[in-house]
Amino acid sequence: MKAMNELRLTFPSRSANEGFARAAVAAFVAQLDPAVDELADLRTAVSEAVTNAIVHAYPNELGPVTLTVRLYENGRVCLQVRDRGRGIEDVEKAMEPLFTTGGEERSGLGFSVMQSFTDRVRVRSTPGKGTTVTMDKYIALRVKGQR
Ligand SMILES: Nc1ncnc2c1ncn2[C@@H]1O[C@H](COP(=O)(O)OP(=O)(O)OP(=O)(O)O)[C@@H](O)[C@H]1O
Ligand SMILES: [Mg+2]
Repeated sequence: MKAMNELRLTFPSRSANEGFARAAVAAFVAQLDPAVDELADLRTAVSEAVTNAIVHAYPNELGPVTLTVRLYENGRVCLQVRDRGRGIEDVEKAMEPLFTTGGEERSGLGFSVMQSFTDRVRVRSTPGKGTTVTMDKYIALRVKGQR
């Protein structure tokens, strides 16, 4: 199925842009008329993925983060967060709950949160090249004016 609308944003991995990404997703997805909790789930999921790019992909420098949001007629929202940073050696292990390379400050729950707040999470990563996190969530379609 072809996306009916698409947003692509590229911003530097500054922590201020985490809130920006969250707000941008919420504003763009609003056209599907999501329920409050659906919108909150999407904001949380994108926030975790963008935070990972900011914190882990570029630990000592700034680099580009690209956020893509695709909307489909059947209510599918596809969120993609891509970085060109250090990449992940073992994706399966990184996605295990409580696994972190972030030390005391981090709890290792970001991927678990993404998984519980969306319907599907895929991670592609190449060490030294970067990481792409793709999340799908299905928003309940409503007849206009009915809620
Ligand atoms: N974009 C990324 N680039 C490089 N490494 C990443 C990236 N995203 C995640 N990782 C690696 O995967 C680990 C697990 O990520 P996850 O978000 O689950 O936990 P965390 O970020 O360590 O902690 P939390 O999200 O709870 O603050 C990270 O500690 C890091 O090693
Ligand atoms: Mg995280």
